Amino acid sequence: MLSTIWLGVTSIIFILNFVQGQLHPQNPAKYQPLPLLRERAAIQNQWTADRISRIPSLLKKYNAQAWLLCQREHAEDTLWWSIKNATDYDAHRRTVLLFHDNKSSMAGAANPLKWIDNTGDVWPELLDTLEHLNPERIILNTDEDISFAGGLHAGELAVLQRELGDRWMKKTANEPMLAVEFVATKLPEQLEYYQKMQETVWAMLEEGFSSKTVEPSITSTEDLGWWFREQMQVQNVTTWNHPRVSVVTPKSFPGWEGSENIIQEGDMLHIDFGITAMQLNTDTQHLAYVLKGSGAEAEIDAPDGLKEGLRKSNRMQDIVLENMRPGLTGNTVLRRSLHQMELEEIDGQIYCHPIGDWGHDAGSVMGFINLPQYVPVLGDLPILPETYYSIELFAYHFVPERNATIRFLQEENVAWSHKSQHWEFVRGRQEKFHLIGSHEKRAITFSDQTTQL
Ligand SMILES: *[C@@H]1O[C@H](CO)[C@@H](O)[C@H](O)[C@H]1NC(C)=O
Ligand SMILES: *[C@@H]1O[C@H](CO)[C@@H](O)[C@H](O)[C@H]1NC(C)=O
Ligand SMILES: *[C@@H]1O[C@H](CO)[C@@H](O)[C@H](O)[C@H]1NC(C)=O
Ligand SMILES: *[C@@H]1O[C@H](CO)[C@@H](O)[C@H](O)[C@H]1NC(C)=O
Repeated sequence: MLSTIWLGVTSIIFILNFVQGQLHPQNPAKYQPLPLLRERAAIQNQWTADRISRIPSLLKKYNAQAWLLCQREHAEDTLWWSIKNATDYDAHRRTVLLFHDNKSSMAGAANPLKWIDNTGDVWPELLDTLEHLNPERIILNTDEDISFAGGLHAGELAVLQRELGDRWMKKTANEPMLAVEFVATKLPEQLEYYQKMQETVWAMLEEGFSSKTVEPSITSTEDLGWWFREQMQVQNVTTWNHPRVSVVTPKSFPGWEGSENIIQEGDMLHIDFGITAMQLNTDTQHLAYVLKGSGAEAEIDAPDGLKEGLRKSNRMQDIVLENMRPGLTGNTVLRRSLHQMELEEIDGQIYCHPIGDWGHDAGSVMGFINLPQYVPVLGDLPILPETYYSIELFAYHFVPERNATIRFLQEENVAWSHKSQHWEFVRGRQEKFHLIGSHEKRAITFSDQTTQL
């Protein structure tokens, strides 16, 4: 009887875990080395080729026959960084790229067609090509609000107007979702490498937030931030976002500036950082606690009030992920999530964003720190499946031990799972504080003694 109930309970727990994705991972994270640069380039070029091969069907979806990119070295279109080869850096001279729909007249032609020019020879050839292709609608990246669809520089637009003339300019259009969907969509093959990167992030967090790296009353938050930077060098990854470590106080708003404190026992620490490799980016915020005392008197865990605050942030992650269905706009998800928080009497803020090719990637957002309830334009885009998101938020929680209300900031990255039709945490989420202190030494001493006995 008891075991039947227990089986029932464990299978419910199993189902919950499955639905919500991986929760706090059990094992210590291990640094996950990435392939050598040459091998990374080959893998990335395959991804880029696969992504580019989807452009003809994206053009069809958005009712266009051509997509024209025109850029000069050091004044690249934002899209360049998602379509270039791994061994390309800035675009050369003037680089003109014409993506087309592969239809009849263009069947068999390279896609995109590419010109690298500094003599003006490109223009008659481009006009001939347009004549041949005869597109009804040509997309130009001229969006006023969305960077990924607005990367055509003003000078290049002026040149296009002059060289293409009215006939073709009349057929040009702005179609922001074309670039947004192209940049945001991730391939299933990318996830394996994104998972490795996320495990490396967790390994850094576990090592950085430990007495191996932090000596209370000596190490500063700045020292710790730079430790993370150096550790990235060791792991052969870079960053898009300098690590900001701070001591969380009721007044501080950690994350954006970091703080300049000497770390003390009893501090609650926060970090916001991301790594970059293989054209993928991560963005994570975790919390740590510095245990007080030493020897037999030492604390062995964070105070209950802090743990309760972290649980509230975890609940907010659940609420966002329950509401975050592809096809809905970010604003709808935000509104529903805030409503659910109100029902559960949770006070806090949500500001989630897509992540992937960029730390702040293309796609719909749910809130901004300064726009907590509704985000014009970006919040009204649909949430796309086959993408990655950064679930970024904080809960306010009154901590009796401190007689103060504190923000509990969390950020974890999720990927859309085709299999479960849910968002899954790529590595997991933080449900326990990283603990810094002498308990680690005590644990070792204790097990040594046990062995001797
Ligand atoms: C990438 O390299 C391949 C092979 O050299 C070339 O065909 C292709 O045009 C390049 N792509 C871009 C965007 O430059
Ligand atoms: C269209 O052109 C691209 C680039 O040459 C090619 O990879 C792709 O397979 C073509 N697609 C179709 C449907 O022919
Ligand atoms: C970093 O790259 C160097 C040079 O290729 C290599 O020797 C080293 O093992 C790499 N480290 C990691 C952690 O992958
Ligand atoms: C807790 O904080 C409140 C408001 O700042 C203050 O009025 C009160 O005296 C504090 N209580 C204790 C026990 O320090």
